[in-house]
Amino acid sequence: MSLLSSESSQRVALGELIHRENSRVNGALIPTLQVDAYLDKVLARGECLLHLQRSCLAGALLGYCNAPDKDLAYVSLLIVAEQTRGQGIGETLLDAFVSMAAHRGFSRIQLEVDVDNQAAISLYNKFGFYYIHSDNLKLLMQLSLPGRNPDS
Ligand SMILES: CC(C)(COP(=O)(O)OP(=O)(O)OC[C@H]1O[C@@H](n2cnc3c(N)ncnc32)[C@H](O)[C@@H]1OP(=O)(O)O)[C@@H](O)C(=O)NCCC(=O)NCCS
Repeated sequence: MSLLSSESSQRVALGELIHRENSRVNGALIPTLQVDAYLDKVLARGECLLHLQRSCLAGALLGYCNAPDKDLAYVSLLIVAEQTRGQGIGETLLDAFVSMAAHRGFSRIQLEVDVDNQAAISLYNKFGFYYIHSDNLKLLMQLSLPGRNPDS
């Protein structure tokens, strides 16, 4: 039986993945006390792509791809378990989200990333994301998509 066979076990595993990364980066990912509220919101209103490895959660992408005007999709969180990084999981998850947004006819995808998060910035650059705004702490990046799919 899969460890993540139910929605509640997926949620627990996601929470654990986020809390582990938060401990590593001193709460910089999502403020620790807000993780539950964050998951409530994004799991109810957004998209949740999971990557399993041997029935365990190795990575997840949480985002929004359902705005009625199909203008802007948004990657809220991309996270890969520390022990499975460097195996292409982040790339696979992002590719799945970009494909979903393109298939649904969205025009662009945005995300925010810490200015010093070189691994993530390099991944986003590889997909063609470019900076549209930056301050001392965060970069706002965007990927332009072909636009509305006439079949959708
Ligand atoms: C960023 C993150 C999702 C990358 O996931 P990953 O599965 O390790 O990445 P992949 O193995 O798919 O690598 C894909 C590309 O990302 C970039 N990349 C990944 N790790 C990197 C590193 N340590 N240094 C530089 N670039 C890196 C490279 O461009 C790589 O392509 P390449 O293999 O052709 O060089 C992962 O490091 C992570 O979860 N970090 C903590 C959470 C986080 O910061 N998320 C982003 C918040 S916006």
